[in-house]
Amino acid sequence: MSKLTHAQWSSKMTFVLAAAGSAVGLGNIWKFPYMVGESGGAAFVLIYLLCIGLIGMPILVAEWLIGRRGQKNPINAMADLSRRGGHLPAWVLVGVSGVLGAFLILSFYSVIGGWSLSYTLSAVTGTFSGLDADAVGAIFGGLLGSPGLLLLWHSAFMVLVVWIVARGVTKGLEGAVRTMMPALVVLMLVLVGYGMTTGHFGEALAFMFSPNWSAVSGEVVLAAMGQAFFTLSLGMGIMMAYGSYLGEEVNLLGTARTVIILDTAIALLAGLAIFPIVFANGLDLDSGPGLIFVTLPLAFGNMTGGTILGLIFFLLLTFAALTSAISLLEPVVEFMEERTPLSRVAATLTSGVAVWALGIAALMSFNVWDVPVLLGLNVFDLLDTFTSKILLPLTGLGAILFAAWCLDRQGVAQELGLTGGTETLWVSVTRYVAPLGVIAVFVNSLMG
Ligand code: PFF
Repeated sequence: MSKLTHAQWSSKMTFVLAAAGSAVGLGNIWKFPYMVGESGGAAFVLIYLLCIGLIGMPILVAEWLIGRRGQKNPINAMADLSRRGGHLPAWVLVGVSGVLGAFLILSFYSVIGGWSLSYTLSAVTGTFSGLDADAVGAIFGGLLGSPGLLLLWHSAFMVLVVWIVARGVTKGLEGAVRTMMPALVVLMLVLVGYGMTTGHFGEALAFMFSPNWSAVSGEVVLAAMGQAFFTLSLGMGIMMAYGSYLGEEVNLLGTARTVIILDTAIALLAGLAIFPIVFANGLDLDSGPGLIFVTLPLAFGNMTGGTILGLIFFLLLTFAALTSAISLLEPVVEFMEERTPLSRVAATLTSGVAVWALGIAALMSFNVWDVPVLLGLNVFDLLDTFTSKILLPLTGLGAILFAAWCLDRQGVAQELGLTGGTETLWVSVTRYVAPLGVIAVFVNSLMG
């Protein structure tokens, strides 16, 4: 029976939490704060908000529209909608590349989720206590150098993801985000609260918010566009899949605004949590894995209360990674569930095992298989590059073009509650501004 009744979010609130859970991920914590600090502070924040408004939000709403109208997995939704509207069958490729992108990304995202789990355990056992920079670096190097350890943590992370997703939209996804998202916010606030006591909070505020227009270049604007796109989990079929469980009554524009506010607020708070600690300990600023897995553990290992603060931080990171990872598996599972005779549980297990297996190739890229397999890239970098530079922008572009040019204009205006000037604004942004923005990012990243 479950095949006939399509799942539905049980409330608007849980949908918001799930979408925000997907959006808030590693990008918010290891990338955004640093980008703000390096690229012009408040000047960058303003540009970023503009990009979110003109590119991120329209594509987010476009993906939800497609999902909600299709009421199916991204591939079937695109196929049905293009057939119903008399458009080219090739539009189905937008759904295919979304589901494929989600599948590929999860394989290496899970490896990093595994690092986060492993560091949570290390924080509990006080491993970083009193270590110097070399020792902390050696721990990270040791983890990356060991295929066995990486496999253990990647597997543990995937088990959690599969366990949550197998239980379905209501029990699994909603249950997970209902507990993890509020916990994430509380943990973040505790860390920001701690940051205020370090005596270096003002420095962090200045680093992130004093406007410096001279740091803003064309590159920076393109990076802001790219981040606006990535942070909202666009172009991966995720928001289409999440939209397919949405009821008619949900106001898409209002909900998009809420999700964007949450996502941005958490990204900014992450900076106010992290930078005071970095400055207070006189450490070098870095972004990405180096910041999270070397610089911060070094700080936690050498400050009073560092064990508990480190635990809070890595728990937060794990929650952020988990709620994003479940959103990556969902489009794949929804597709398998609807297109094969498999039950929800069997569909989740099958796709989970496939993702896990590909993840093994990805994790070996850090050690025994660190060899170029294509275009000079190892498997991990290849998966990362192919998805983030090619699949994601193309899927996002396809989704916005389809929503703007192929869906019936009046129907969409009505569905979004737009009239007169706001409708014209929506049409011009979705038809021209957002697609051109994505194309600019796409072309730039291909050349870079
Ligand atoms: N939106 C997440 C972030 O900003 O970290 C990242 C992410 C989530 C990327 C889900 C990809 C993904 F499928």
